Amino acid sequence: MGPVTRAIDALKRGDTLGVRGPFGSHWPVECCTGKDVVLIAGGIGLAPLRPVIYHLLAQREQYGNIVLLYGTRTPADMLYQRQLAQWRGRFDMTVDITVDRASDDWRGHVGVVTKLIPNAPFDPLDTVAMICGPEVMMRFTIMELMNRGLAADHIFVSMERNMKCAIGLCGHCQFGPSFICKDGPVMRYDRIVPWFGIREF
Ligand code: FES
Repeated sequence: MGPVTRAIDALKRGDTLGVRGPFGSHWPVECCTGKDVVLIAGGIGLAPLRPVIYHLLAQREQYGNIVLLYGTRTPADMLYQRQLAQWRGRFDMTVDITVDRASDDWRGHVGVVTKLIPNAPFDPLDTVAMICGPEVMMRFTIMELMNRGLAADHIFVSMERNMKCAIGLCGHCQFGPSFICKDGPVMRYDRIVPWFGIREF
């Protein structure tokens, strides 16, 4: 797809591959005990949330309702289709999927992922929400969650900014007083309200 993929593709067996940040924060699974958990993913945002689903399901009895709401452009763009089918088949979690553009054989929802929020089975007063997707999608998702009564300090988002050094030196990834590479990527919404929605330079 681009320079990173090409560089990985050019590696030979035994070559070394280094990976850099952001490694400053994690999804707050420790805050979810005893609560409903709603995970909202847009596009490839499902990938960073998948480990959370594994974690929650591995200790299923510790949580209330687990809800995954997932929006993609078309049915063909859906990640992890086999796993989504498995998760949908479980009685102890809710999976709802919507696409922007349906194909002929699509029988599910069509429209933005925020439309799934009003009917999702979670108690807004006792829920932790984790969101990963394009920034505009996260903005509308937060608005809809707050319309349902979720508090800002129970909403977590995964932020993206252009990175260069990934070790907190160059300032490329600055986000308000934080650096995404050092302090992110996961941020609690009430702590970033003033800077959320301001485009990077
Ligand atoms: S990429 Fe974060 S400070 Fe350089």
